[in-house]
Amino acid sequence: TLAESEYKIRDLQEADFGRRELDIAEIEMPGLMAAREEFGPSKPLKGARVMGSLHMTVQTGVLIETLRELGADLRWCSCNIYSTQDHAAAAMVVGGTPTFAWKGETLEEYWWCTNRALTWEDGEGPDLIVDDGGDATLLIHEGFKAEHAFEKDGSVPDPSTTDNEELKCVLTIIRDGLKTNPKRWRSMVERMVGVSEETTTGVHRLIERAREGSLLFPAINVNDCVTKSKFDNVYGCRHSLPDGLMRATDVMLAGKSILIAGYGDVGKGCAQSMKAAGARVMVAEVDPICALQACMEGFQVARVDDVIQDVDIIVTTTGNKDILMADQMAKMKNNAIVGNIGHFDNEIDMAGLYKTPGIKKVDIKPQVARYIFPDGHGVIVLAEGRLLNLGCATGHPSFVMSCSFTNQVMAQLELWAERNSGKYENNVYVLPKVLDEKVARLHLEKLGAKLTQLRPEQAQYIGVSEKGPYKPEGYRY
Ligand code: NAI
Repeated sequence: TLAESEYKIRDLQEADFGRRELDIAEIEMPGLMAAREEFGPSKPLKGARVMGSLHMTVQTGVLIETLRELGADLRWCSCNIYSTQDHAAAAMVVGGTPTFAWKGETLEEYWWCTNRALTWEDGEGPDLIVDDGGDATLLIHEGFKAEHAFEKDGSVPDPSTTDNEELKCVLTIIRDGLKTNPKRWRSMVERMVGVSEETTTGVHRLIERAREGSLLFPAINVNDCVTKSKFDNVYGCRHSLPDGLMRATDVMLAGKSILIAGYGDVGKGCAQSMKAAGARVMVAEVDPICALQACMEGFQVARVDDVIQDVDIIVTTTGNKDILMADQMAKMKNNAIVGNIGHFDNEIDMAGLYKTPGIKKVDIKPQVARYIFPDGHGVIVLAEGRLLNLGCATGHPSFVMSCSFTNQVMAQLELWAERNSGKYENNVYVLPKVLDEKVARLHLEKLGAKLTQLRPEQAQYIGVSEKGPYKPEGYRY
């Protein structure tokens, strides 16, 4: 059993419930179970310290236990203040994984958890990180930068210089740590073998760092595995968007006018599910290719400003900022629903809602609030603008997360196996296509699919190997 200082969760009593749901999830996660069977006996992650910053859900629990079975020494936190499933977190602690996560953390608590998950009992950091959105990676990079500045001219980060609440928390942790150990982040970086990143937004952050030459360790982009972004982002959101909307508001979707902002992988899944529920769906896009795709699916492509006064529900899916501003929300119908399913909460101008004088907030229930404008009409905002499928429901279902997380396992194995080979530099890599195909293959049987076997002369005719990969690198699926 873990020492009490080695975890912080809501309630240990929920562990049995967590275990029962983990047992059910395992049956729906054939990729992860196959990884346990294939790699469990040889323990290829033995000796590896793995830190995870990824929604502490039941599905993530199955990932954690898979990595454990492969030999990893783990510590975990969530990558969102609302996404933890407390029973899953409890089951992790009972299973022996130091876990720092509960549903409804404050921002200070969130960053405290991230920091605790990054710090092993001996004070040292991880070898590997499983990141989702890049917050663990960000903390290390900010800490490293601050230590350099401190060493150069004695300067110490000043949290009061930013009005970004998250950055304030990050800088506070780093400032307070500098006093006791001014080389902490540097030695963490020295130890780090690499990170595997789960989501589009985290990958954007990594690529930016690599481009400016500031990335401090190798990274594998798991998001762009086909069996991740073309499944989790699309079909996962197709499932969990309506789930989140309905659990939060129980609103009738049929007949409603719904605007989906962003028609990338996530937006496509969202729009499809709203259409299937009988809604009239509109799409806002900046990319002409995605806009044309939306037209071809029968969706009206419109600008937020032109239609906002008529829509019943708006869902942002862009991974970009400032998609829906406070003054636009003020123009919406009474009790129109506002939600975001993109990674961060800056798609919707929550800051604007908070600071505009005369706007009142009434909590309806956890993660559902009505913001009332001075004239008395209001909008219903889900999960304070944070991802509503994890805040208001339980995120994606196990089966699709099995695809994503099997890729995570492959990435972790690859980074650890190549840790001394020099194969990976401080850059962002994707896994080879054969592994992608393997992940898909592992999920077919469960669905009763019978794959056709390419005959040798057919393989030769189309110029591929009988065993794959079956498509050229640039194929878009
Ligand atoms: P993507 O890049 O495929 O799609 C985003 C789309 O938004 C692009 O087509 C882009 O042109 C469009 N866009 C950008 N700025 C816009 C603007 N101002 N107005 C309208 N459209 C705009 O990215 P993907 O994979 O769809 O991910 C979107 C976000 O969702 C990311 O933050 C990602 O991390 C997150 N995500 C969330 C999940 C969840 O469970 N909630 C699951 C997977 C991803």
